[in-house]
Amino acid sequence: MKLRYFSHSAFQITTNDGKKILIDPFLDDNPTSPVKSADVDADYIVLTHGHGDHIGDSFKIAGRTDPLFICVNELADYVASKGFKAHNMHIGGAHQFDFGKVKFTIAHHGSISPEGNYTGEPSGVVLTIDGKTVYHTGDTGLFLDMKLIGELNKIDYMLAPIGDNFTMGIDDAVKAVEFVNPEIVIPMHYDTFPVIKADPQEFKHKVEKIGKKALVLEYGQEIEL
Ligand code: NI
Ligand code: MN
Repeated sequence: MKLRYFSHSAFQITTNDGKKILIDPFLDDNPTSPVKSADVDADYIVLTHGHGDHIGDSFKIAGRTDPLFICVNELADYVASKGFKAHNMHIGGAHQFDFGKVKFTIAHHGSISPEGNYTGEPSGVVLTIDGKTVYHTGDTGLFLDMKLIGELNKIDYMLAPIGDNFTMGIDDAVKAVEFVNPEIVIPMHYDTFPVIKADPQEFKHKVEKIGKKALVLEYGQEIEL
């Protein structure tokens, strides 16, 4: 599969047989994304929580490409209330889709739609696709149960926020890498706004100091996993 990083927490996975999965596609109002919503399409959209910088342009993209949304129950109901297809899940539950397996995890954060609708608990998500496992933590502070997530799922790629203020900062994110023990960590949720400025190279050095590997992706870069 391929993984493309748009910036912030927005990623696109393309499976070996060409299915496209977007995660938290915040593009048009995202000053760091080189790609805008008109340029992407999706078969599936996975949302970690209801905040505007994560729902992003989901509905615009869905209006064109009719994807299936995958998210926790209350957020899925909100998506469905907008007329889109949604698969309701919840934290701790996994489901096998035609592209792979999706399991939701806890995240310590908030969740509400831009219009003020209740969208349930925030989440992280573990995706197992084409033999690789990717853990997108969502927006979260550091939590000890990350150890359990790493123990129960052999994580190949961890996508972890480093921007501080709303989520883990660099030092807590390094601790999170120690807990989850992924093959490779990719930093996210930084530099989008002045309040979440962070140096991904500093994060990379600190991750290397604990004997782990970090990969800093360029905005818009796509890699083969
Ligand atoms: Ni958030
Ligand atoms: Mn956020």
